[in-house]
Amino acid sequence: MDLLLIGPPGVGKGTQAARLRQALGIPHLSTGDLLRRHVAEGTALGAAAGAHMRRGELVPDALVTEMTLEQILGPSCSAGVILDGFPRTPAQAEALDTALAGHARRLAVVLHLTAPDQTLLRRLTGRRTCAGCGDSYHPDTRTPRTHGQCDSCGQPLVQRADDTAETARTRLAVHTRQTQPLLARYRLAGVLHEIDGCGDPGDVTRRLLAVLALRAAGSSAL
Ligand code: AP5
Repeated sequence: MDLLLIGPPGVGKGTQAARLRQALGIPHLSTGDLLRRHVAEGTALGAAAGAHMRRGELVPDALVTEMTLEQILGPSCSAGVILDGFPRTPAQAEALDTALAGHARRLAVVLHLTAPDQTLLRRLTGRRTCAGCGDSYHPDTRTPRTHGQCDSCGQPLVQRADDTAETARTRLAVHTRQTQPLLARYRLAGVLHEIDGCGDPGDVTRRLLAVLALRAAGSSAL
């Protein structure tokens, strides 16, 4: 099954995708993580993408689409994938639909997570990420055993370059302008589900799994 988690920065797409991966046994593909890896490794793609990311803007479609479709159509995602952060523009959505259709696949479910901007800004600006393994911490939900140090690998915790208050606000505006229009497309296709992303992460996961269970029950009754 190909599934998309969509929603504004900080709404919990990465957090929930990791939990759904455990629950459903299908891989999680985050374009943000892929791009940050390219930046860290100093590849040509990373060099081209890095400045856009630091400003909180989207990376140009051509760069992201080729990189992501290669993964989606690769062997690790052949039984389906949980998409996190792609597509983000109408051109990306079009390219994804075409590529999936060419392999007798389609986006079966789009889960739209929502939360108020104030909640999103608090989550983004408070987040600290491990420079080594990428694990995420936040004073509200997960504090490290040793201040400033990752529990899993001991590496220092840092603030993501795009998690400053100013850049986080830019990212929210970019989401409203460039990504929200995709919701109409998925609503029309009958695959969009709205989920409240507030509250305990475990409760959010239960809401997501309830939607997926209802959908599975509906399709088996047809
Ligand atoms: P990306 O990495 O995808 O960033 P994002 O969409 O801005 O999302 P985040 O990772 O910040 O948030 P999230 O929704 O995953 O929330 P998380 O679970 O981490 O993209 C970064 C950049 O890459 C983009 O700005 C763009 O430049 C580029 N890019 C990526 N994809 C692209 C594309 N397709 N096209 C063009 N450019 C692209 O949670 C956030 C925080 O909240 C964490 O601290 C977490 O612990 C906490 N939290 C999560 N859930 C809860 C909860 N229920 N309660 C309390 N705290 C919670």
